[in-house]
Amino acid sequence: MAKSDQMDRVVNLAKRRGLVFPSSEVYGGFRSTWDYGPLGVLLKRNVKDAWWRSMVQMRDDIVGLDAAILMAPKVWEASGHVATFTDPLVDCRSCKERFRADQLPDSGACPNCGAKDSFTDARQFNLMFKTFVGPVEDDASIAYLRPETAQGIFVNFANVQTTTRKKPPFGIAQIGKSFRNEITPGNFVYRTREFEQMEMEFFVPPEDGAQWFEYWCQERLNWYLDLGIPQDQLRLRPHEESELSHYSTGTADVEFMYPWGWGELEGIANRTDYDLTQHSKFSGQDLSYFDQEHDRRYIPHVIEPAAGADRATLAFLLSAYEEEEVPDAKGGTDKRVLLRLDPRLAPIKVAVLPLSKNEQLVPLADEVAGSLRKHFMIDVDLTGSIGKRYRRQDEVGTPLCVTIDFDSLDDRAVTVRDRDTMQQERVAIPELLPLLQERLG
Ligand code: GAP
Repeated sequence: MAKSDQMDRVVNLAKRRGLVFPSSEVYGGFRSTWDYGPLGVLLKRNVKDAWWRSMVQMRDDIVGLDAAILMAPKVWEASGHVATFTDPLVDCRSCKERFRADQLPDSGACPNCGAKDSFTDARQFNLMFKTFVGPVEDDASIAYLRPETAQGIFVNFANVQTTTRKKPPFGIAQIGKSFRNEITPGNFVYRTREFEQMEMEFFVPPEDGAQWFEYWCQERLNWYLDLGIPQDQLRLRPHEESELSHYSTGTADVEFMYPWGWGELEGIANRTDYDLTQHSKFSGQDLSYFDQEHDRRYIPHVIEPAAGADRATLAFLLSAYEEEEVPDAKGGTDKRVLLRLDPRLAPIKVAVLPLSKNEQLVPLADEVAGSLRKHFMIDVDLTGSIGKRYRRQDEVGTPLCVTIDFDSLDDRAVTVRDRDTMQQERVAIPELLPLLQERLG
């Protein structure tokens, strides 16, 4: 399948099956914003849960936080966002379209209308969304929608450190919405103006920064591999000196092979003591740490793995999407679309399918569904042939289907069908739950 087709098919599947809808669609949509539908919200939640589990639940050196989106405007002065969180913007004089000056083609032609040398001089455009707090819209009431979750962590460093009594090396993790007034959003949920980040700030003694940076690069790459993205679709790309942010001594991106080429999934940065030093200066509060064991005071250095929940969700969808020819019931072949999602990410874990809407089968299906619902996200589907219902579950990545047929009424057994192999096996109802639990991991 051509790469461009793959993107179109995934976007089409996302719309058709309730994963992702264009936002405000009844009004014609709204500028590259997207809404996650009933299955999409489950998928993205599973991505975030997998991240939280690996970062917070499975470790004793990282704790969680949920800071406010609106913060004191001084935070963004201290962080450098008011002065430097800008992109160079140019307009095409011919078609009036706007572009990032650093993303124009070498040909000098407008990517929209093709006009040559039609661009205005570049001017710096701050990407933060401004709003006003309270009823008066004046300079004193300006606030910003946070452009990254990281700063909520830095300004809570002392609160978290003293309340948890954690000693460096330790980390603070946070998942939440961020907002950037991107000049050129696009590629579905890859670049949007409102998105979710999964960020962790790991505070370490200054001399250990380089070693922890290497550690987090590997850990974060392994997270995507473990959740099923093939090795050849992932790479770790160290930044060139010229690409480094003003605060960073080292950054590497985890990149995914999107249909349009390699693109950033996550950045891992060595932010040194920049953030805590800045917030100490601007707030007048001492944000250093006193190491009792070695009788010394220092500003911890920070290693930051910063991921995007939407970009990760898109990467999992793209790498899981497959089309294959399978034998049909009439001896011919049929096209099967499937999402080979890791069971931990699949929106629905188990579909319960009574063979027909028969008045005896449906109550048994309800009984089985009722006993499984406490344990997994399940779906009960009654409509269409059993073959069609399997295909519907395959294309949204449901790992297992449980079919209830007329024999089930006598033998109290059901058929479990595997998404990937399409193999079926007969299982007694009392043994169903442990078998599903084992298969779903
Ligand atoms: N605190 C550091 C930071 O925010 P970043 O590289 O600007 O670093 C981290 O953002 C991650 O957030 C990116 O790797 C990407 O996954 C996600 N992200 C950033 N801008 C985005 C956008 N406009 N739309 C969707 N995701 C975005």
